[in-house]
Amino acid sequence: MSTYNCWMLQPRLPWHLDFARRVDQHRPVTIDRLDGLSPADRHALAQSIATFQVGEHGEGEHLLSAASESQATERYKDALSMFIVEEQEHARLLGLVLTAIDAPLRTSHWTERVFVMLRRLKSLRTEVLTLLVAELIALSYYSSLSRGVPQLAPVFERICEDELRHIDFHADTLPRHLNQWSPAVRMAVRMLWNVLVTGASVVVAFDHRKALRVARVSPWRFMQDVWSDRQGLDQRLFA
Ligand SMILES: [Fe+2]
Ligand SMILES: [Fe+2]
Repeated sequence: MSTYNCWMLQPRLPWHLDFARRVDQHRPVTIDRLDGLSPADRHALAQSIATFQVGEHGEGEHLLSAASESQATERYKDALSMFIVEEQEHARLLGLVLTAIDAPLRTSHWTERVFVMLRRLKSLRTEVLTLLVAELIALSYYSSLSRGVPQLAPVFERICEDELRHIDFHADTLPRHLNQWSPAVRMAVRMLWNVLVTGASVVVAFDHRKALRVARVSPWRFMQDVWSDRQGLDQRLFA
């Protein structure tokens, strides 16, 4: 079940202040018990989490320079910098999980390379739209693991809460940039974006099916979660 649509109704601070008050909030997190997970479960989780860990630890240089080129405000760029730090913090937390499982970190994965290539196609708008595909996928993935693997819930609940805010942040700040496109271009981009989300959800549901099975989430259920969130976000970005 999607939680995105409830979250976006809550009032909040301006984004640069919201990010600033949460700096270092995850520092105290530790993982001390993994009992009840079989070796096969641990292996499936390790393979899957290592892939997401790769995707979380980008430096964000291209995103920040795209923001500068689009004449974004200083407040937006500050918020964006702290957003990138939060994503790196997710990489650190996922690294803790992998260490607890006694699994190695990955250095790259083909899905991450495809996302990076797509994000760098043109501008801040295309970069953030592609980023939002990854955010939607990540939200359903982390919320599946937080509900289905209680041993790891302290980590995944925190990451999930951040991902909800990230989607909200981009949904608040991106439409003014999208409105610079003509209605015809916006409609074409909207269709492409929806196709991209759908395609990515199918690939991830298949690629990570063993970890989702540990969380007792079927690939179909995972895809439905992503599609439900996609509908709400599509309305906010393009309607
Ligand atoms: Fe993240
Ligand atoms: Fe995120």
